[in-house]
Amino acid sequence: MRPPTRRGRLTAVLAVTAALITLTGSMSAQPSAAAAPQAAALPYQDASLPVDDRVDDLLSRMTLDDKIGQMTQADKDAIVPASDIATYRLGSVLSGGDGTVSPNNAQTWADTYDGLQRQALGTPLAIPMIYGIDAVHGANAVRGATIFPHNIGLGATRDPALVQRIGRAVAEEVSGTGVDWTFAPCLCVARNDRWGRTYESFGETPELVTSMATVVDGFQGPGGPGSVPASVLATAKHYIGDGGTTNGTDQGNTQLGEAELRAVHLPPFKAAVDRGVGSVMLSYSSWNGVKLHGHKYLVTDLLKGELGFDGFVVSDWAAVDQLDGQTGFTAEEVSKAVNAGVDMVMVPHDYKKFISLLRGEVNNGRVPMSRIDDANRRILTQKFGLGLFEKPLTDRAYTSTVGSAEHRALARQAVRQSQVLLKNEGGVLPLAKSAKLFVAGKSADDIGNMSGGWTMSWQGRSGDITPGTTVLEGIRESVNDPSRVTFERYGNGIDGSYTAAVAVVGETPYAEGRGDRPGAMGLDQEDLQTLAKLKASGVPVVVVLVSGRPLDIAAQLPDWRALLAAWLPGTEGGGVADVLFGDHRPTGKLPMTWMRSASQQPINQGDGKDALFPYGHGLTYGTGTDPTPTPTPTPTPTPAPGPGSCTATAKVTSTWSGGFQADVTVRNTGTTPLTGWSTSWDLGSRTVTNVWNGALTTAGGRATVRNLAWNGGVAAGGTVTFGYTANGSADGLPVPSCTGTTGT
Ligand code: GLC
Repeated sequence: MRPPTRRGRLTAVLAVTAALITLTGSMSAQPSAAAAPQAAALPYQDASLPVDDRVDDLLSRMTLDDKIGQMTQADKDAIVPASDIATYRLGSVLSGGDGTVSPNNAQTWADTYDGLQRQALGTPLAIPMIYGIDAVHGANAVRGATIFPHNIGLGATRDPALVQRIGRAVAEEVSGTGVDWTFAPCLCVARNDRWGRTYESFGETPELVTSMATVVDGFQGPGGPGSVPASVLATAKHYIGDGGTTNGTDQGNTQLGEAELRAVHLPPFKAAVDRGVGSVMLSYSSWNGVKLHGHKYLVTDLLKGELGFDGFVVSDWAAVDQLDGQTGFTAEEVSKAVNAGVDMVMVPHDYKKFISLLRGEVNNGRVPMSRIDDANRRILTQKFGLGLFEKPLTDRAYTSTVGSAEHRALARQAVRQSQVLLKNEGGVLPLAKSAKLFVAGKSADDIGNMSGGWTMSWQGRSGDITPGTTVLEGIRESVNDPSRVTFERYGNGIDGSYTAAVAVVGETPYAEGRGDRPGAMGLDQEDLQTLAKLKASGVPVVVVLVSGRPLDIAAQLPDWRALLAAWLPGTEGGGVADVLFGDHRPTGKLPMTWMRSASQQPINQGDGKDALFPYGHGLTYGTGTDPTPTPTPTPTPTPAPGPGSCTATAKVTSTWSGGFQADVTVRNTGTTPLTGWSTSWDLGSRTVTNVWNGALTTAGGRATVRNLAWNGGVAAGGTVTFGYTANGSADGLPVPSCTGTTGT
């Protein structure tokens, strides 16, 4: 029996009226738009029946082509003519990062969606298609939408409830454009800042990323897909280990033992599964040389079996093509991916070839019909759960939420809470609203730079790409007299008459591998030249860093009086100004360890490296303001090794016949940080089958689990958790003993 998940309580949206399709044998049947609501003709169309019954009935009516079509996802712009949706029974359409409509606005997106959906509804069984898009920090393909901070900034807020509210706001805007499914959240644990997708991660620790799985409830609703109006299907991605590749190479190779793979990269996916996430997208990357898209153990045995994921697995964009290392895709790659556990293939272009190849693989027995039926069951369960059969077209009531004042206010709050104050020498911040300010830097007045990749296009771009408030505009709106704010991008014209100079610098937009930084990780020449001009004026320099990751800035830091990490804030730059002028005290905490040098990468909490700013660092005003110049942080001498005190508490998290899963929380009950811990307990008749977040040894009838390299450090009063599965009874678990160590 699989561990219960929230999906077990999947709520089918009960329809008040059913848009009924007159069933004909012809594939070209058009929905009888004028059909008056009438009793459901067939069981699968009856929203009062349990979802499983509806799925059973529908599956019994589907041909092999119907079923293969449901497993096929094609890019909107590749479907020519649009009637191919009906002809080939396509179950899903997507817009990739560069997908757009013209004119680009919410109404056009909704009209486009409805037109494509009506094609799907015109098929004999009238199975609605599900439309997916990368709404990763807002309905970010739609001009005029609210663009929220990218995940790295949301991780800095340490506010899961806020992130859930953001998920809900994004779901409303996405629903207003017709789209039913977002390829978000990325639950990647970014372990090497060289990775071009670092900004898509909530942070470098499994705990922080796991805590932000609340966004799944925001997207879908607390009761799972379809449990609230404007529910959109969420996607936990990219399973598994995308953020742990060697050298941070995008789509690279994650070289880890299974215990550490489970420890670092699995917990966020477990959290998403337990919240009823409807889909999981696989990673392009490999685990110890084996591509995830062909990894049956990780996809079927671990994700679907052990974790009990009962949604559907979708491939990444043309990722199946990569399995044999050659361009294009083959029958062997198609069957390998589908047999590994891929339920829906993001083809995304040659859908006719894909359908033909998969049909061939089924007919020759290399893909069993049971796999096809399982994939369809998973996909259809989500479509029924979302209420697509009852409400297949855009809910226009939500179209007006796109870019709404309410959502922009929420985004501004998120921007405020995501700012991390790293340095504040002499309390130069907060700035006085009466100050005479010089603002410079390429990102001071640039919504495109503030938003980063996945904004209006795949890679994003600099410039005025969508309506919003730049940092400069936010500053001018905040001060008493805007005429006392001078802006010159390059710093030309600054003199000693200014109270302070604010330099908004950092990275220009990028996405995925194009953002990999295998070499230097410092500021570009324009920024360095701008900063040199500001420094030469003798005016105190406040740096606002707009970037998708920590940058290598240790050499320049002494010249800066203050440093504020703004990450990629999106359209509401007023939130940055709120912190600069003290309308909001900075509360953000680093989601990533900040390197002292790029040569330190990867650098993460607990690895013993000498960081410029540690994970969790963040100053505030008042108590946190530095009365004196900030000395460059030097490593505090590690105290001599000694005993530490800790407790270990075991809690059963799920059970099945003959076995169970437990989480063990280790708490530092002493007054000095632990640098290591070890727990131990009598096994009795039980046998431990798996451990994550810890290293297991068994001897003399006792199990001992010790910390891993990355989670030995536990602050006084802090906790760390590891988990295990075991055969045997979950009743009467012994209380593990705990031994802590401090110092090296
Ligand atoms: C991309 C990304 C993935 C995205 C997909 C569809 O290559 O890896 O995150 O969801 O394609 O755009």
